[in-house]
Amino acid sequence: MCGIVGYTGTKEAYPIVITGLKRLEYRGYDSTGVALLNNGLKVYKKKGRVSDLEEAIIGMDLHAHTGIGHTRWATHGEPSDVNAHPHTSASGKLAMIHNGIIENYTQLKKELTNKGYVFTSETDTEVLLNFIEDIKENNQCDLEEAVRVALKRVTGAYVILLLDSENPDTIIAARKGSPLVIGVGKGEHFLGSDASPMLEYTKEVVYVNDYELAIVRPDELILKNLGNEKITPFVTRLDMELAAIEKGGYDHFMLKEIFEQPSTIHDCLRGRLDAAAGTITMKGIQDNIQHFINANRIIIVACGTSWHAALLAEYIIEELCRIPVEVEYASEFRYRNPIINKGDIIIAISQSGETADTLVAIERAKENGAIIFGIVNVVGSSIARISNGGAYTHAGPEIGVASTKAFTGQLAVLTMMALKIAKEKGTISDERYTDLLFELEAVPEKVDAILKTAEQLKTIALKYKGAADALYLGRGYNFPIALEGALKLKEISYIHAEGYPAAEMKHGPIALVDENLPVVFIATKDSYHEKIVSNIQEIKARKGKVIAIITEGDDLIPGMADDVFYVPPADEIIAPMLSTIPMQLLSYYMGIARGVDVDKPRNLAKSVTVE
Ligand code: AGP
Ligand code: GLU
Repeated sequence: MCGIVGYTGTKEAYPIVITGLKRLEYRGYDSTGVALLNNGLKVYKKKGRVSDLEEAIIGMDLHAHTGIGHTRWATHGEPSDVNAHPHTSASGKLAMIHNGIIENYTQLKKELTNKGYVFTSETDTEVLLNFIEDIKENNQCDLEEAVRVALKRVTGAYVILLLDSENPDTIIAARKGSPLVIGVGKGEHFLGSDASPMLEYTKEVVYVNDYELAIVRPDELILKNLGNEKITPFVTRLDMELAAIEKGGYDHFMLKEIFEQPSTIHDCLRGRLDAAAGTITMKGIQDNIQHFINANRIIIVACGTSWHAALLAEYIIEELCRIPVEVEYASEFRYRNPIINKGDIIIAISQSGETADTLVAIERAKENGAIIFGIVNVVGSSIARISNGGAYTHAGPEIGVASTKAFTGQLAVLTMMALKIAKEKGTISDERYTDLLFELEAVPEKVDAILKTAEQLKTIALKYKGAADALYLGRGYNFPIALEGALKLKEISYIHAEGYPAAEMKHGPIALVDENLPVVFIATKDSYHEKIVSNIQEIKARKGKVIAIITEGDDLIPGMADDVFYVPPADEIIAPMLSTIPMQLLSYYMGIARGVDVDKPRNLAKSVTVE
C-alpha cells in the first residue's frame, strides 16, 4: 500500500498535495515525495514522514498548479531518499508515482539495461517508468499511448500518476488492483488513493476501475480502457467524513484490516504461487535452498502473534520437510545460552521488523554463525536488514495494535516456504504438493466467504461479553490458532483467556470448567476431529459453554455446542488460515461490546521496540 495524491487546477497544487499525503500516511510512511509541474518538473523527496519532507523543502520553489505526491510503503528497495517516489525517467521529462507491485519488473529491467538504461533506485516503479518512456520514444507515440502499450505487458498491481514536462497541467493515471479516486471540481481535478485528500474541495468523485486510464486536466477528465475506447466517467457523491475514509468506511482499523485479508493474502501469494504451473517462486528461499535442504535444525524466534505463526510453522515444516524445528520465545532465547550449531537455520518472524527481543535474539545467533531468514511485513526494517535472506508478507501497513492481516500473511509465506523446501527435498509427493498449492491459492476466496458471515460472531460476542475468563482449545494444526485466539481476546477485550491443546484439559485446566466458562473449540474437520468431539463432550459434561468453529457440513458438533460458526472445508494444513478469521472477529466484537478502544488497547504498543 502507499498513499498517492494528485491535483491539477487553478489553486496552488503543493498545499493540497502535502495535506492530502498527511491524511494518507496510514497507508504507508517510510518515505515521501512530491513532483510539481511548472515550467518543467520539480521533484522533492526524502526518507521519512510527510512532515519531514515538508520541513526540508520550506523556502524551495513550490509554485505550481499541477502536482503529484506519494507516501511510500516499500515493497522493492528499502526506504531511502533514492527509492522514494516520485521517480523521474532517464530523459528527466517524466515523473511518476506508483502504488502496487510490478511482478515482472526484473524481466523489464533486464530488457532496458540491455538497451543501456541505468537505474538509480532499486524500485520496480523506476523500471515501469523507463519502460513507458522507452516505448514513447521508440514508437514515436504520445505518452498516453505509451502508457497503454506498457501496461499491457505489465503483470502485478498498480496505480500510477504521471507528469510530463512537455504536457503542462496534465496528469495521466491508470489503475489495476490498487485504488484510485478522482475528485471532480470546477476547473480542477483531484486524485487520491482514497477520497480523504479532496474531501473539503469536492464530494463528486469517480472511482477508477481496473484496466482504466485517465487523462486529467483542470477542466477535462477523459477515461479510457487499455483498448483506447472512451468510457463515460460515473460520478458519485461522497457521503463519508474524513475519519471514516481513512478506515475505508469501517469503524476501526482492526476491522478494516480483518476485512482486507482476502486481498492481503492474495498480495502475499501474488507473483510467488502459481498452482497451475506447480511453482512457488521465492527468491529468498531459492538463494538459500541448499542451507534449508541440508539444515539439521530450524529454530524460529518470535514474540506474541508471530510466535503463534512460528508454532504452526513447526507443525507444517516438520510434517512436509522432515526437518526438526524448535520454536523459541525471542525474549527467552536471547538471555539463555542456547546451543546453536553450524547448519542451524534461524527464522525470525516479525510484523514490524523492529521487535527488540526478536532483533537482539537474531543478532546473538548471527554472531554464533547462524543463517538468519526473516519473515517480515515492513520492508527495510531492522530485522529485514540484518537477515541473510527473507520473504516479505506484503500485508501493507497494519495500524491496529492487534495483528490480524500480518498474521495470515505470515502463515501464507510459511506454508509456501515449507512446500517449496519439501518439493526441493523430495519429502512431499507430487500429488500432495499440487493439492496444497491449489488449496493455498483458494484461501483468499474462502476468507472472503467467511467474512460475509461475520455478523454471526457479533451475536455470539454479545452473548458472552460478560465472561470473566475463557478457554480456547484446539488440536494439531489448530492448537496454535487456539493460542492466537486467546491472545486476541485478552488484548482486545481484556477478558482473561488461555489457549491449550484440547487433550491437555484433563491434566488440570478442566477444574476451571463450570456453567460460566465459555470454551472456544477450533474443531474444523481434520485428522483430530473424532478426539476433539470427545473433548467437547468432556466440557459439556461439566456444564461449560461451548463455542465451536467447525467445518461446513459438520452435522455432529452442532448438536453438542452452545454456539457454532462455520468455515469452508480445507486441508488441515491450510485450515488454520481460515479458522483464525473467526478468532479475530470474536475478539473484535467482544472488545466493542465491552467498550474497549480496539485499535489502541490499554498498555499495548504496535511495535515493542523496548525490552
Ligand atoms: C499481536 O496481536 C500483538 N500486538 C503482539 O503480540 C505482537 O504480535 C508482538 O509484539 C510481536 O510483534 P512483531 O510481529 O512486530 O514482532
Ligand atoms: N512497489 C513500489 C515500491 O516499492 C511501490 C510500493 C508502494 O505501493 O508504496 O516503491
